[in-house]
Amino acid sequence: MLHRKSMTLIVIVALLLSGVSFGFMFKKKKIDPVYLTAEQLAQYDGKNGQPMYVAVDGKIYDLTKCRYWKDGVHDKSPQAAIAGRDLTEVLKTSKHGIKRVTRYPHVGFLVDSVDDIPQKESQTDE
Ligand code: HEM
Repeated sequence: MLHRKSMTLIVIVALLLSGVSFGFMFKKKKIDPVYLTAEQLAQYDGKNGQPMYVAVDGKIYDLTKCRYWKDGVHDKSPQAAIAGRDLTEVLKTSKHGIKRVTRYPHVGFLVDSVDDIPQKESQTDE
């Protein structure tokens, strides 16, 4: 009798634990987007340990982990493909287009002025 009770208890605990880990596995990490003006974007230039952010069509992408970009410069580009800038126009001159960029994290949006930064979102400069 006791044996059956403890078995039931073990099964319940196991089910609860698997439910918890299942929840963890599928819990999506929610990251607030950053909203940066062109001036603020300039600090994410890949220099001195800064991330490498570029803007294209109003969206900001994090290219820090891209192997074709080193110290803020796109080593495959003969032109001004430099991190911390709006590269919408420069990208038009490349053969590969936006698809090479959108495989990297979309971290936020480029805004015209600080007044366009949504108040609800938390803005961190980390
Ligand atoms: C201006 C002329 C440019 C040239 C000639 C150029 C050329 C290249 C080449 C040859 C590669 C290697 C992969 C491939 O062969 O497709 C590459 C990769 C890449 N380019 Fe460019 N690029 C240019 C501009 C840009 C700009 C403006 C951006 C960003 C807005 C950009 C973002 C990237 C990224 C993120 C990758 C890596 C993609 C991956 O990991 O697969 N490129 N580029």
